[in-house]
Amino acid sequence: DWTPTSFIETTVAELKEKLGNDKVVLGLSGGVDSSVAGVLLYQAIGKNLTCIFVDNGLLRKNEFESVLDSYKDMGLNVIGVDAKQKFWDDLKGVTDPEGKRKIIGRDFIEVFDAEAHKIKDVKWLAQGTIYPDVIESVSVNGPSATIKSHHNVGGLPEKMNLKVVEPLNLLFKDEVRRVGKALNIKKELLGRHPFPGPGLGIRILSDVTPEKVRILQEADAIFINGLREWNLYDDVWQAGVMLLPVQSVGVMGDERTYENVVALRAVMSTDGMTADWVHLPYEFLAKISNEIINKVRGINRVVYDISSKPPATIEWE
Ligand code: XMP
Repeated sequence: DWTPTSFIETTVAELKEKLGNDKVVLGLSGGVDSSVAGVLLYQAIGKNLTCIFVDNGLLRKNEFESVLDSYKDMGLNVIGVDAKQKFWDDLKGVTDPEGKRKIIGRDFIEVFDAEAHKIKDVKWLAQGTIYPDVIESVSVNGPSATIKSHHNVGGLPEKMNLKVVEPLNLLFKDEVRRVGKALNIKKELLGRHPFPGPGLGIRILSDVTPEKVRILQEADAIFINGLREWNLYDDVWQAGVMLLPVQSVGVMGDERTYENVVALRAVMSTDGMTADWVHLPYEFLAKISNEIINKVRGINRVVYDISSKPPATIEWE
């Protein structure tokens, strides 16, 4: 019978056997899968595990600092790499969604690879790959692989010349969460909404600039914190804000404004393959809209996305 406890026991024993005294590197993303993989590996090999967390300049507001802190609290040896400027420089002027994904994916591999090879005698690359990722990357001609290239799967191992260890590759998401719970990983980490690897880069629907990232981070934080305060966060599978390449006329006091529009997106889903927009309460939407427009300079209009997937996708790019 599969139980989280028996899985942990068996897996930790197998990892000890397989990895012995070898050094292992793991990329942490702040998400559920890599966090659970990190704690399992830490239980098996302790200080021989080094984790790397890259700030690509496209994370949520304060995410880099707060996620680093929670990993350190769990005892993990984690290196935070501030690579914001490199990603912003390389994304300058790029508007094509797939072009952005390619650059972000390539930069991530470069930064991660350089950092990983500073670890003396590193032999293994650990990944938080779960069973659905395995299936998805096998069916390379499947719709999800051709519609949008997901950068968090392939690419890394080929480049790095390391052996690969994937302790979660037979688990489904709900099993990963149960294992995480049994490992005492904080509820806030385990219950986090999915967040795309290219981050805010694909929620800015035009070229990425540091100023647009800042504006979007502010609006996104108001929306996400609002969902938490109104106890709506756990009723939503994923939520975020899109910064549209559209300006619209508004008034502020007796001044005319001509500023950006953002779209709020909140969906219910089980696996991201299909999704329904969430019927958030009007009072909540009204409050968030007011707060964004009043507090975030550069935004004067908020709209709510009421499209389901298919035919729309969850992200706008
Ligand atoms: P779509 O927009 O295709 O998104 O309906 C489905 C799920 O996948 C996430 N997503 C990505 N994740 N790299 C990722 O790691 C990507 O390039 C990417 N594009 C979309 C999206 O956030 C949603 O959870």
